[in-house]
Order: sequence, then structure tokens, then C-alpha cells
Amino acid sequence: MKSLEIRKKFFDYFVKNGHTRVESSSLIPAEDPTLLFANAGMNQFKDVFLGKEKRSYTRATSIQKCVRAGGKHNDLDNVGFTRRHLTFFEMMGNFSFGDYFKEDAIKFGWEFLTAELGLPGEKLYVTVFKKDDEAYDIWHTQIGLPKERIVRLGAADNFWQMGDTGPCGPCSEIYLDQGPKLGCGQKSCTAGCDCGRYLEIWNLVFMQFNRQPDGTDMPLKQTGVDTGMGLERLCVVMQDVDSVYGTDLFQPIIKRIEQLSGVSYDKTNEKDKAPFHVLADHIRSTALIITDGCSPSNEGRGYVLRKIIRRAALFAQKLSDKNFFPQLVDALIEAMGDIYPDLITRRDIVMSVLNSEIEQFAANLTRGQAILEKYFAQNQKSKTVGGQQAFKLYDTFGFPIELIKIMAHERGFSVDEKGFEEQMEQQRQQSGKKEAAQADINLPDEVTTQFLGYEKLEAETKVSALICENELVEQAPAGQECWVITPESPFFVECGGQVGDQGWIEVGDTQAEVHGLKKIGNAIATKITVPADLRVGSKVRCVVDKQARLNTMKNHTATHLLQSALMQLLGKQIKQSGSLVAPGYLRFDFTYHENLSLETIREVEAIVNHKIVENLPVTTDISTYSDAIKQGVIAFFGEKYNPENVRIVRVPEFSAELCGGTHVRATGDIGFFKITEVRALSAGNRRVVAVTGPKALELFQDSFETVKQLGQEFKVQAHQVVDAVAKQREQLRQAQSEAKQLCKQLWQAKLPTWLKDEQKVGKIPFLFICLPGTGAGELREIAGALLDKKSGFFFLGGGQDDRGAFVAALSPDHAKTVDMKQFKAWAQDALGVRGGGSATMLQGGGAVCDDSWQAKIAEWLKSQK
Ligand code: SER
Repeated sequence: MKSLEIRKKFFDYFVKNGHTRVESSSLIPAEDPTLLFANAGMNQFKDVFLGKEKRSYTRATSIQKCVRAGGKHNDLDNVGFTRRHLTFFEMMGNFSFGDYFKEDAIKFGWEFLTAELGLPGEKLYVTVFKKDDEAYDIWHTQIGLPKERIVRLGAADNFWQMGDTGPCGPCSEIYLDQGPKLGCGQKSCTAGCDCGRYLEIWNLVFMQFNRQPDGTDMPLKQTGVDTGMGLERLCVVMQDVDSVYGTDLFQPIIKRIEQLSGVSYDKTNEKDKAPFHVLADHIRSTALIITDGCSPSNEGRGYVLRKIIRRAALFAQKLSDKNFFPQLVDALIEAMGDIYPDLITRRDIVMSVLNSEIEQFAANLTRGQAILEKYFAQNQKSKTVGGQQAFKLYDTFGFPIELIKIMAHERGFSVDEKGFEEQMEQQRQQSGKKEAAQADINLPDEVTTQFLGYEKLEAETKVSALICENELVEQAPAGQECWVITPESPFFVECGGQVGDQGWIEVGDTQAEVHGLKKIGNAIATKITVPADLRVGSKVRCVVDKQARLNTMKNHTATHLLQSALMQLLGKQIKQSGSLVAPGYLRFDFTYHENLSLETIREVEAIVNHKIVENLPVTTDISTYSDAIKQGVIAFFGEKYNPENVRIVRVPEFSAELCGGTHVRATGDIGFFKITEVRALSAGNRRVVAVTGPKALELFQDSFETVKQLGQEFKVQAHQVVDAVAKQREQLRQAQSEAKQLCKQLWQAKLPTWLKDEQKVGKIPFLFICLPGTGAGELREIAGALLDKKSGFFFLGGGQDDRGAFVAALSPDHAKTVDMKQFKAWAQDALGVRGGGSATMLQGGGAVCDDSWQAKIAEWLKSQK
């Protein structure tokens, strides 16, 4: 059964059983700092399990893109060396939010596998959490599974948690016995054994708790079910192959690796197949991560992406010396383009990011490998790569620790990982990067704020809560810094790139400037230094700085117009990777693999300004996330949206974006739009900075004035200024070259006179010339001319302003008479000059020469034997 059919059967079965089909979320979790990448189907439902978010359905099903290459669930080290571990995989899942629990979850799982897919029930084994008698009984009495096929295991195996905190609960896993030929043969071997005979295909989690930062498990208000079955592993079973790489999900990629490397997969020994597997897996994870908008970097998820790419580069090298890894994207598109069409539209960006990242690393990979060889030779006895050594490879050559471990392992070495971590920690402390944990206060559920700021910029309201020094208080004295919470607020809290409002809070006749704004639960908190004694219930007036806000609104709407203009010109592959909307300017980062030409920039400006002149209405409406996406509304991966209630900001027939920000009523309000900067942030990332409204006018006026003044200076019209500058530069260049020529003629004419001044010091003829204003190049020329004519020791001083230059030259016949090294050392102290060179020529700079030097040098020469 092909993977496409399996996907279809899965959805059909669960939809038939009352589940709503939900699309996979992005690999990059929106606003969840506890998670690097989506790593389970339940991630997008985390808040629903926690009871913080409600959906219109209580049963859902999805096939979720997942990456497990860092953080709590990390399979990176295993990939390539087992038949089942992957960094990227797709998780098929069914979910219940306060609806069915253990009994139905188990029945659905069993029925789907045996009745729908026709798997032999007698080959299925299960594990349950050792204390979970309920699950045990359901398997045994209701499903009829014999006791020897139900294994009780501890928390390490059968208690699932998403991260260090968040929803969690006991679980039950379903395994398929692949037969003794794949097993370890131990007597104790059964489901749960690591040998690989029993393939874990489905994990049923019974969500019951919310794990707290201190490790305690708080019961959830309602229980839930979260299940996850790896599509790739199910394909192994349904396609009767013995490894995920044998399935139709991987075969086109493996074939392409064979073509590009010229190495046959089938003819390669089983134990040497790791490079094929690593590359086939890593192209899936890296391409899909990049497609979802992440770029390689040195921290967080960007660093995980970088690690995977570097690991791929290492293994690609084992098959071929060509950098062929990025070209596997086309085979991936062949295998998965229909499921993830973004791979097709964003192919060029993926290629360009992979190519540039690997090219950058290639030289370091070679150099680092040579160093590692040295360590292997040095550490023959201990057979360990030291912590400091590993750290050096990491720090100087960019070797992720995972790479060092692989290479060490291949040579029978281990790595002192603890020592490495210590070095890392030391570096973190030195660079002061330790992040302080930010404790936030929990507000009572009823303390909420209604945001009025879409329509109003002022609100007469009262204090509903006060937080001083991280504690809820009833009152605060004047002068104290506090967070004030009100039931209504016009203040916009930073979100979606738009900065928070400026403004003030009035208490009676006094007022305090807003120092900070943040959301706490569903409330808006405003930080002020309390201007007059304040208590819960006090009347206050919140006022937004109107000018700053209006400018921000202009910039925000302009950002939407900019994104649509870029998409119109460059194609759908451009994807927002970040943005900043402030009163003074806007910044828009997006994925694109080429620099923008001047014409493109002008065209973008023209399109946006055209839309401004059209004065189109800017409207908002509410929809569900999936309907909006179906209509082609643009969403940003970095944002967390409520799937059932999203706000769409539209400019008719031009732009529609999910956005919670504040916007002008009609595009004409923006006034004018001008791009001020375009640059590359990294291989696949560009940044545009622009201004609108009053700032754009200011920019225009300043530039116009400057150009006009320049025109007056050059006595030409404004449009002729550039030519005039170029002309003047050419004249200057000519004048400089003539001056140089004249100088040369001058010193050439002087040569005979200088030569006459030569004195003999001991055995050696010595000539000293001090020519302030002469550059180093010229001094060298003069020295050359002197050496052509005479033998001896020549000292020429020159330089510009207070930066001296000198050349000391010795004719070859006197090379032994004077020791230039000693002269250098002496001159440093005695004359204050420093330089370098050879045994016959020394040049450098320092103090500016004067005539007194002649006697000093002569004295020194005399002292030489
Ligand atoms: N969240 C569980 C897992 O990832 C079940 O989907 O295994």
C-alpha cells in the first residue's frame, strides 16, 4: 500500500468516526519558546489540552510534519545507524479534547490497524504504563489481547511529556513483531526491547496532567487523548520492507543519491549504507525546515538546522567529492511535492541556502578533519577526544559536537562530552549570555482587558489590578514603579512586528509616561512610575500618543502593501521571515535567494505608491484560520493564531493578511512610501527598510535640499550633479598623477646633489635624506634610484602630517657590514620608528624625521664593527 493511500485511509477512518481533519501546522512553532520545532501532532493543540483555548470540535485528526533533532526529543545521533530513526517524519494522530478517553482511544487504534489496514492481530504487542491497570484491562478484556503480549513499563517508556513543562500523561504503545530474524534472540526480548524486532508504530497518550516548571504534575481540568503514529514506520509494515528507507517515501531520494554519487545502494554493504540514509533523511528535514521559513544561524532552531546541514556535508563527502546534497531537493519534490506544494514554490531558496551553507563550511570541514587526525594520533592511549579539543573544533571550525562524535566513533574513539559542555558553559558565562529566567505572575481568570485601540486612542477606566515587584497589591504609593491593569485599554501591546504604543496614564491631575506594555493572560498590563497614590478601583485615563500611533499605522499598512508587491514581482516563494513596524520606519525581512536590482526596487515602490494613490479602503473581518488560508490569505509562521477566530486585514484585490495590528482606514492615509535600504541578511534572506508619511516627506525634503546645494556648489542642475562629481573626481585623479610626476622629476633632478652629500662612516658610505610630505611609495622609488647609482646605507624619511614613514636601504655589497635587525631594534628606541623587511631593506613608520636624526644614525653606524 503506497503512502498516499495510507494517508487517505487514515483520514477517512477518523473523519468517519467524528473527527475534524486539521492541517499540519508549520514546523516552526508559533510563539512557543519551549519548543524548537514541531515534534508531535499534539503541539498545535497544546493550549486546547491545557484548557486555555476552545475549538468548535472535540475530536480532531491530522498528519503533522515533525522534526526531532534537538531539545527534549532528539534522534539526530541515531539517524543513519538504525532502520527506523529519522530527524523529519510525519505523525498521524487522532485527538480528543474532553471527549473520549482510554477505552475509545484503544478501540480506534486496534480497529484501524486490524480491520482497516488488515494487519495480523496476532503480531501486535502493546506496552502500558506500569501503574495503569485501566489501560491493561481494556487491552486484555475488551480487545482480547493475551497477557504475554501486554508489557508493563516504567515512566521512561510509558509516560509521555511534550517538554519539560506542559501537557503530559501515561501512554500505551502498539508494536508490530517483525519476526525473529530482526531480533536480538534474548529470552527477555519483547515489545519495548531496543533490538528492533518489535517496531513501535503507535503511541496512545492519555493526557491527564500539566507538568509545572518545578516538576509537579497538576491534573488537567479535562482529560484528553493524543495519539501519534509515524507514517514512515507504518509504510515499512504496509510495504513489507525492513527499513524506513525501503519505503516509497525514500526510494526516489535514494535513487537520486545513486545517480549523483555514482555509488550503488544495493551493492553497498549494509554497514556502509549510513551516508545514503543520512542524506535521504537530512534532505527531508532541512528542505522542509527552510521551506517553513527558518535559516541557519548560531542559536536556537537556526543552529539545529545548521547542524543537520553540516552533518549532511560530512556524510556526502563519503560518497562523492562533489557537493551534491542540495540537488536532492528535486527528488524530494518528486516524493512529497504533492503533499507539501511549498517545496515546489520555494525550491530555489532551499537550494540556495543549502549551497551557500555547505560552501561556507567546506573549507572548515577539511581543516577541522586534519586537526582531528592530529588529536587521534596524540590520544592513542586514552582513545578519547578531550573536552578542550572538541571545543576547539567547535569554536574554531564550526564542528557541531554531533559531528565530532561520529568521526571519533568511526575511529574507535569517544569524546569527553562533559568536558566539552564545561567549556561551552565557560564561554556562555564569559559572553554573559546566561538568560535570566523571567518569572511572570498569574492573574485571576476574571482579570481581563478589552483592547479598544482599533477605534479609540483614549479610555476613561479604572484600575482592576496592580503589580509591584512581581506581586499583586491593593495600592501603590507615588513614585513606585508598577504594572497597572485596567478592564479597558487603548494601548497596543507589541505583536506581529508592530511595536507597543507610546502614551501616558492620567491619575487626577497628574500623569505618567508608559514605560512598558505586556500581555498577562488575557489582560493588558501597562508599566508606569505611579504619579499619585493609586489603588485598585482608582479612576484613570489611558491616552495613546496619537502622532506616534498614526505613523505606526501608516507603516503597518504599507508593510502589507510591500509584501503583496514583492509577491507580485518575485513570486509566491517570498515568505516573510520577520518584520518591525515602528512610528519612524518599517522593516520587512523575507526569504529570497537573489539581490534585488535597482529596477525591482523602483518597481516595488511604484506598485505600493500606486495603491496609495488609489486610496483603497482598508477593511478587517473575522474568519477561521483554515477558511482564510483556503482563500489565499497570507499568514506568518512566527505568529500564533486562534484557529477559530482570525482577523483578516484586506486591501481590495491586492492584499489580504492575517493580522492583529492597527491600520489606516484607507491606503491614501499612508501618503507616500520610499524604500531606504535593501540588503542580504544571509543566503536566503533579504531585508527591506522603508519610510512613509511624514518621514518620507522629511527624507524627500532633506535629499532635495542636499542635491540642490550640491548643484549650486558645482554650478549645475540637480540632475547633473552625479556627472559633475564624477568629472571632478577624474580631474582630481589627473591632478594627483601630474603632481606625482612633477615630484618624481624634482627628486630625480635632486639626486646628483644628494649623492654628493654622502658621507663615509667607518667603512660604509651613508646618506640621510629627510623629505617630509613624501609618501612611502615614493621613498621606496628614491631608495631604488639611489641603490642603482651607488653602494652604501641610505636612510630616507618622509610621511604625511604627523604620521612618519621611512625606508632604510643597504646595497648588497654591504649586506654584511650592517645588521638590519639590530638597526631596527635600535631605531625603535632611538628614533621612535617601527618597521619590517629584509636583511637589506627596512620600511615602516612612526615618528616624523628631522635633521637631528642624521647624526644619531651616523653615531650608531660608527658603533658597528
Ligand atoms: N505525543 C505523542 C508522541 O509524540 C503521541 O502522539 O509520541
